[in-house]
Amino acid sequence: MSEIKAAENKLVERRQRIFSGIQPTGTLTLGNYIGALRNFKILESEYDCLYSIVDLHAITVRQDAAELRKNCLKVMSLYLAVGLDPEKSLIYFQSHVPAHAELGWILDCYTYMGELNRMTQFKDKSAKHADNINAGLFTYPSLMAADILLYQTNLVPIGADQKQHLELARNLAERFNGVYGDTFIVPEGYFPKVGARIMSLKEPTRKMSKSDAPDTYIGILDEPNIIRKKFRSAVTDSDNSVVFDTENKPGIANLMSILSAVTGKSMDQITAEYDGRGYGVFKDAVADAVIAELEPIQARFKEINTDKAYLEEVMTKGAQRAAALASRTMLKVRRKVGLAALKL
Ligand code: TYM
Repeated sequence: MSEIKAAENKLVERRQRIFSGIQPTGTLTLGNYIGALRNFKILESEYDCLYSIVDLHAITVRQDAAELRKNCLKVMSLYLAVGLDPEKSLIYFQSHVPAHAELGWILDCYTYMGELNRMTQFKDKSAKHADNINAGLFTYPSLMAADILLYQTNLVPIGADQKQHLELARNLAERFNGVYGDTFIVPEGYFPKVGARIMSLKEPTRKMSKSDAPDTYIGILDEPNIIRKKFRSAVTDSDNSVVFDTENKPGIANLMSILSAVTGKSMDQITAEYDGRGYGVFKDAVADAVIAELEPIQARFKEINTDKAYLEEVMTKGAQRAAALASRTMLKVRRKVGLAALKL
């Protein structure tokens, strides 16, 4: 077989590609873990994966520089602590591959103000940071689309709160392909069956978020006694029945989702096991399951996070390999939109 033919076959056989990212802001929560991070690991063996620490997204909100650098390493350590293998998956910082920002700008020029105006994350963050409603916060979804489209991504593991952003990425890919011919793969979302939207422990009708008060979320790195305390004081209701009813019993439904996501038990099994035994027993069972899930990750995190040389090595290799993949898409995009090639 000729070399070209072999290379073509290899391309045809290419496994489906995954891209996802997490912002290095604050402590990651159980929501980040169940909604996204856990799936990163599950999908690793079947797909070619790129997992980025999306630091350019983080600066849409004012960050302390030293804290941000520390958080980037923390998120990378967590990626590794959940068991991601840097030989299989590309793990890197978004800002180390400038093509993200470049494609982000190009896609800005194909994104309508009306589309960005509709984004609920923009509305939420503008309300939270009323003194800093900057242009980056507004065009954040185009940069996220660039992250995804840059790598010809097939599947994006995310929580339900990112659905609207993914929809925009799909629309931009279709719009661009419509104008210039096939350029981008139109990506699909990959959402967990249970736990795509883990709720706040204090206001179970709101998403669990790392930017809220610490007693509203479980941090992936929270100590076991803190986890137990937070679950014990989670808001529930007064009727004492463990049944899955998101409308009338959002607090219990949220705890059931967490238990189901972590143990694999169905809602019926959970009801059969805990209904009528009192919320105290049930909450402790949820705490036990979450502690058992997180403890090994926390132990690995402690080792990895102090190994700066290893982290440097992973991020450097990841960025180099990601940049090589990104440059293929960028060559096509630049040519299609009419940017002249620079011949060195
Ligand atoms: P971020 O950093 O807010 O959250 C990271 C991931 O965690 C999921 N998540 C949740 N899932 C379930 N329940 C929750 N309470 C919960 N909170 C967060 C999020 O859905 C996300 O999957 N814009 C993204 C980061 C990003 C990205 C990308 C993701 C930038 N570029 C490209 C995928 C592909 C964000 O702010 O996620």
